[in-house]
Amino acid sequence: MSDTRSKLLALLRSQPAGGFLSGQQAAEALGVSRAAVCKAAAGLRRQGYQIQAVTRRGYRLASEDAPLTRDGLLAALEHWQAPVEVWPSLPSTNLRARQLALDGAPAGTVVAALCQTQGRGRFGRVFESPPGGLYLSMVLRPEGSIAQALTLTAAAAVAVCRAVEECCGVSLSVKWVNDLVLDGKKCGGILTEGAAALESGRLEYLIVGIGLNLCTLPEDFSPAVRPVAASLYPGLAPLPVHQLAASLCRQLARLCFDPQPEQFLPEYRRRSCVLGHHITVHPPAGQPYAAFAQAIDDQGRLVVRLPAGGVQTLQWGEVSVRSAGSPPPEPASI
Ligand code: BTN
Repeated sequence: MSDTRSKLLALLRSQPAGGFLSGQQAAEALGVSRAAVCKAAAGLRRQGYQIQAVTRRGYRLASEDAPLTRDGLLAALEHWQAPVEVWPSLPSTNLRARQLALDGAPAGTVVAALCQTQGRGRFGRVFESPPGGLYLSMVLRPEGSIAQALTLTAAAAVAVCRAVEECCGVSLSVKWVNDLVLDGKKCGGILTEGAAALESGRLEYLIVGIGLNLCTLPEDFSPAVRPVAASLYPGLAPLPVHQLAASLCRQLARLCFDPQPEQFLPEYRRRSCVLGHHITVHPPAGQPYAAFAQAIDDQGRLVVRLPAGGVQTLQWGEVSVRSAGSPPPEPASI
């Protein structure tokens, strides 16, 4: 760590809890320019220190916990049998895990990063992955066909919820199929990607990737994402990041290595924030339409009732909950 960085870290740690240190004060105390302070703070954040920078107030350390490291994660995991990688930054942990899977990495191989530069979301979208979040992918090699990917996403969602509840004491809900929701806002997402043999349809590997906003600040997200994003620790509470990452790995292994729907589907349904609600379905192609979320079936599919009668079973797509009084979407033109 550079000298200015380590001195800034020590200075921030010496501030009274919750106290801000202005850029000017830091520059004077360290005998460097404000630009050098700004650069050192950015460097510390890239290393995983949760440093808040607030306009006209300055800097403060949001967490005393050390950033996620490979050694720290291995110690918290205890006797983990598969390879574990922790990177300060990666384009995408899913891409790295896929590369390892193609090279023969076993089930349980973990790739984590403190930030991602090309985080991948569903439907080819970008998943904004600034410092302050946890980005983790695991290689899975379950028996079965690619059709299992949907139930695996449900299993992973329950695994994340259990880990977050165990380590952070926070109860999350799940918006079908892969959004992790805190107080109505998205605090994380899951992307399951894989490959199957063409002739048999049997899975060769699956990668389950989880992104969780831990202490991510609103200003770290783009203006479009900011109003709908939440973080688990927006405040100053110390963050049990090693315990959380380790618990996440253990829960994923428990539920996803050999997925047994009865071990996670009842909880997945209980945690659903769409079941029993009027929703808008946004199909990957085509117009959005109104429906009522009636059930999640044993394959993890969403069963919806249409206003004109009839029932549809959705395997893919995206839904949003319609608040009371919001107008139904414009009917699709046919
Ligand atoms: C979504 O909300 O559409 C899914 C987001 C999944 C993001 C995670 S972060 C770790 C892993 N690496 C990626 O590039 N994506 C997943």
